[in-house]
Amino acid sequence: QEGDAEKGERVFRKCQACHAVGEDAKNKVGPALNGIIGSTIASVEGFSYSSVLADMGAEGKTWTEEELAAFLEKPRDYAKGTKMAFAGLRKEEERANVIAYLATFSEE
Ligand code: HEM
Repeated sequence: QEGDAEKGERVFRKCQACHAVGEDAKNKVGPALNGIIGSTIASVEGFSYSSVLADMGAEGKTWTEEELAAFLEKPRDYAKGTKMAFAGLRKEEERANVIAYLATFSEE
């Protein structure tokens, strides 16, 4: 499903307590999300990850849009033991939109 980046910017408000994206974005409670799509899981410099995400990254898994959608639907099911304390985005449309928004900060 194609997402709408503008609508995704509004969805991202649910993430902003913990994540920054864009120019000068810094790690907060969660890692900065510039370039996240296509990147190796758990590879943002200076961020201390849970072992479950660190292990996925060590195996070479990357944040494809599909993996990201699965994670965002139910973070704690996708990655048991994750320290991302977020219930998830239940609606497929919200997941697609926030992913489209994040894609605007990721090189294709
Ligand atoms: C990790 C996205 C909401 C805290 C991540 C990662 C992504 C992400 C893509 C993995 C980053 C990587 O591999 O480098 C999002 C999005 C959100 C959201 C799109 C909103 C829809 C939140 C909220 C919190 C949070 C609300 C805090 C309450 C964290 C933490 C991690 C993380 C602590 C590291 C998890 C770990 O090491 O297990 N998030 N997040 N996130 N996020 Fe979020």
